[in-house]
Amino acid sequence: MRLPDGFLIGAATAAHQIEGENTASDWWMFEQSKPERLQPSGRACDSFHRWGQDMDLLAGAGLQAYRFSIEWARIEPVEGEFSADAVDHYRRMVAGARERGIEPIVTVHHFTNPAWFTLGGGWLRGDAVDRFTRYLERIAPILDEGVDTAITLNEPNMVAIMHRVISGEANLETGLGGAVPLPHEGVRDALIAVHHAARDQLRAQHRGLAVGWTVANQTVQAVDGGEERAAELSEALDDVWLRAAADDDFVGVQAYSRMLVGPEGRVEAAPEAPRTSIGWEYYPEAVGHAIRNTVAQAPGVPVYVTENGISTRDDAQRIAYTTGALRAVGSCLADGLDVRGYLHWSLLDNFEWGRWEPTFGLIAVDRDHEDFTRTPKPSLAWLGDIARSRQLP
Ligand code: BGC
Repeated sequence: MRLPDGFLIGAATAAHQIEGENTASDWWMFEQSKPERLQPSGRACDSFHRWGQDMDLLAGAGLQAYRFSIEWARIEPVEGEFSADAVDHYRRMVAGARERGIEPIVTVHHFTNPAWFTLGGGWLRGDAVDRFTRYLERIAPILDEGVDTAITLNEPNMVAIMHRVISGEANLETGLGGAVPLPHEGVRDALIAVHHAARDQLRAQHRGLAVGWTVANQTVQAVDGGEERAAELSEALDDVWLRAAADDDFVGVQAYSRMLVGPEGRVEAAPEAPRTSIGWEYYPEAVGHAIRNTVAQAPGVPVYVTENGISTRDDAQRIAYTTGALRAVGSCLADGLDVRGYLHWSLLDNFEWGRWEPTFGLIAVDRDHEDFTRTPKPSLAWLGDIARSRQLP
């Protein structure tokens, strides 16, 4: 199938996962305070210094778009104190993308907060909207450098789940059994309010900028009579967040696998079901279901796949998974759904939130080597060929 004109094929990353030494962020603080549970991000992939190489590899392979994030903790490391150097840094990145012919898709918040914001109550602070929109005012020069598409918050539904995990109210190990930890409702309401305020402000600040948020689609599917419970979980985990995008310029779909739900809650996939290297069920069709549910919840809102990928040490499996995922995207396009792009997660093997073992990258990074050697995997050239040929597998 031929890709529609303007459909972007690219790859995605997030600042804390690749930049290194994000010392003013809350995640850096968590990593230092819980060494028994979280591996440290340390110098990560050193992309704060090596972003040019990352973009060269992406563009050289033929990919057309790069989704990366701006780190609030670098822009405002201390409450009310803004770093002109950090603003310049991200301006150079946007200009660098444009010089290479890459479409920059910029996330202004990808999971991490400045530590001061979290220590002061995080999204439940009374001034959360004010603090976030003040940060957005300061990054205006970055977006003015040439950004046409911006994401306010990455996976707010995950942020609201993680709030309950971090505050000790729920724990992921037990939670992922029958009782899925549900998003914290107060944090959910706060994040929806922050998103709407951020979207309105960004639109006012930057004429023509397309603004949306991205949702982690759990792709809930009922088994063994679990329809009612599955509908409840889908509502809390995905749907309410997707409906909040009704007036956005686009919505970002992020999908990796699915969640099977019986009458008592989540059930594991059959033991013989294929798995990825981190134990998720191998289910490339997830992204197609996620797009269709997104369109049902937010009708008329254009969709970008802002993340999709697989943790595997076998790059042939990555290509097979992505082939299946792109076929599912193709079938949505064939049905007339307004899908505008596919951004693979991730460009680099990176810091997977407390773990270094998962490898989602199209490019390997040798972190033991002083120059953090990047080695493209065959999947990078393979995806680049699809972008160049405009032909879906
Ligand atoms: C996040 C990424 C993460 C990826 C794989 C998404 O939840 O946005 O930061 O690395 O999935 O787990």
